[in-house]
Amino acid sequence: MLTQYRNTAALLSLLPLLASFVPGSAASDSCNATSLCGTESPCCSSYGFCGSGAEFCFGGCDPLGSNTLTSCMPEPVCESQNITFSSFDRILMNATEYNGNASAWDFILQQGNIQNTTAGELVLTLSEENNGTLLTSTRYVHYGQITARMKTGRWGGVVTAFITMSDIKDEIDWEFPGNQTTEGQTNYFWQGYVPAQTAGQTTGNLTDTYSNYHDYTFDWQEDTLTWLVDGNVVRTLTRAEVTDNSTGLSRFPSTPSRIEFSLWPAGISSEPEGTVEWAGGMINWDDPDYEAAGHFYAYLDSVSITCADQASANITSYVYGSNSSAYTPTVNLSNETTIESGAVASVAVSAKWAFGVTAVAMLFSLL
Ligand SMILES: *[C@@H]1O[C@H](CO)[C@@H](O)[C@H](O)[C@H]1NC(C)=O
Ligand SMILES: *[C@@H]1O[C@H](CO)[C@@H](O)[C@H](O)[C@H]1NC(C)=O
Ligand SMILES: *[C@@H]1O[C@H](CO)[C@@H](O)[C@H](O)[C@H]1NC(C)=O
Ligand SMILES: *[C@@H]1O[C@H](CO)[C@@H](O)[C@H](O)[C@H]1NC(C)=O
Ligand SMILES: *[C@@H]1O[C@H](CO)[C@@H](O)[C@H](O)[C@H]1NC(C)=O
Ligand SMILES: *[C@@H]1O[C@H](CO)[C@@H](O)[C@H](O)[C@H]1NC(C)=O
Ligand SMILES: *[C@@H]1O[C@H](CO)[C@@H](O)[C@H](O)[C@H]1NC(C)=O
Ligand SMILES: *[C@@H]1O[C@H](CO)[C@@H](O)[C@H](O)[C@H]1NC(C)=O
Ligand SMILES: *[C@@H]1O[C@H](CO)[C@@H](O)[C@H](O)[C@H]1NC(C)=O
Ligand SMILES: *[C@@H]1O[C@H](CO)[C@@H](O)[C@H](O)[C@H]1NC(C)=O
Ligand SMILES: *[C@@H]1O[C@H](CO)[C@@H](O)[C@H](O)[C@H]1NC(C)=O
Ligand SMILES: *[C@@H]1O[C@H](CO)[C@@H](O)[C@H](O)[C@H]1NC(C)=O
Repeated sequence: MLTQYRNTAALLSLLPLLASFVPGSAASDSCNATSLCGTESPCCSSYGFCGSGAEFCFGGCDPLGSNTLTSCMPEPVCESQNITFSSFDRILMNATEYNGNASAWDFILQQGNIQNTTAGELVLTLSEENNGTLLTSTRYVHYGQITARMKTGRWGGVVTAFITMSDIKDEIDWEFPGNQTTEGQTNYFWQGYVPAQTAGQTTGNLTDTYSNYHDYTFDWQEDTLTWLVDGNVVRTLTRAEVTDNSTGLSRFPSTPSRIEFSLWPAGISSEPEGTVEWAGGMINWDDPDYEAAGHFYAYLDSVSITCADQASANITSYVYGSNSSAYTPTVNLSNETTIESGAVASVAVSAKWAFGVTAVAMLFSLL
């Protein structure tokens, strides 16, 4: 059910909203893999609009819809590390200041508000005013193991999510809808499509995910994708089982992806009925937990990343190569810089546009 709404109703309902945020001609052309951006506005943003500058050419920029495969900025290469949150020094709080320097920041706060605790945890918040919180990693993972130690929300309509998302919308999910605190949902997408009816699955019998930390893992390798909880495998997907043996087309997530965390409002009137239902009903803004804290919340203790590719002096980025075989672009390691030189965005970005981008980004990323 989730799957169905994510890719049809939820997205379609957003398009008029998005279009109304497009500021001026620089960003008015829409783009996709069959309708590329022109030379003036070469970058195809993750929302499918052409433009130039940081807002369009950094994280999320779709190489297949852009003017050329090299129009988007190179993607910062993976770096194995364990990230903890006793300090927020490595989280960029103002996303519009991002210049592509992944050595300076591990995560970018794209929307919402985060808080710290004395125990060194990061708190994602959701309030009626902030519309939820979205954190994205600066670096990309192109196969590797990612573990998040986290506690979820426990309220109908409030969704906690830990996902990976590529610039051409390969996606891998751990999602925790609503007030169900003994289950997690696993899912995956290939280039924005649901590859199979069985893509979304539920893992049950977890000890209360609101009260207890669990380690949620994606072990994403070239030929297998495994989801684990506390080190125990709960689901395995192989590349072979999603490969069409007559055409060679493999619907397996295969492109470098950012790590994203979010707490978002699915139980609100602007969401499709099916999404609200999936998320456990409409949000109760009079919930005692909400009144006590002033927001809904989810806790992130740490994120550990073990990369298949290692960053080095000579390897700084991933760049897309040609659409070589069966719709799967090649991905190359490169030494090209990911950092924008000189001036920032060449497209004026209004506050309204920035909001439109983040709101739609969340829905694209998380639904
Ligand atoms: C790609 O964009 C063009 C131009 O906006 C549009 O006509 C076409 O339907 C789009 N294709 C897909 C697959 O979305
Ligand atoms: C991250 O933590 C795990 C478990 O403590 C450890 O095995 C691993 O070596 C650490 N990785 C890094 C990059 O520090
Ligand atoms: C974020 O950074 C931009 C660009 O430097 C600046 O214009 C804007 O005022 C900043 N926003 C906040 C809330 O500080
Ligand atoms: C990137 O960030 C690192 C760490 O903060 C800093 O040392 C370096 O000078 C920055 N590079 C550029 C080009 O801004
Ligand atoms: C949160 O971080 C700030 C700045 O590092 C620090 O002053 C404050 O004590 C921290 N709060 C908690 C609850 O740890
Ligand atoms: C939250 O969403 C409402 C309704 O769309 C909007 O008016 C408001 O500006 C948003 N707030 C933030 C912080 O994005
Ligand atoms: C979730 O919320 C719905 C609506 O408030 C309620 O009917 C249901 O019992 C709740 N489920 C759990 C497991 O708490
Ligand atoms: C929970 O465990 C029971 C007993 O092993 C099993 O029958 C049930 O399917 C499990 N529930 C889920 C949602 O995995
Ligand atoms: C393709 O062939 C492999 C190896 O024989 C098999 O495991 C897999 O199930 C096949 N894929 C599909 C989609 O049938
Ligand atoms: C990095 O590249 C330079 C020249 O391109 C080469 O001399 C050097 O050996 C390379 N270093 C590593 C660690 O590969
Ligand atoms: C990618 O390759 C497939 C065939 O391998 C082709 O049908 C498709 O149109 C190509 N897409 C683009 C954007 O070039
Ligand atoms: C990247 O590598 C090439 C080939 O080894 C070398 O010529 C070039 O100077 C390097 N560029 C950077 C920015 O390191």
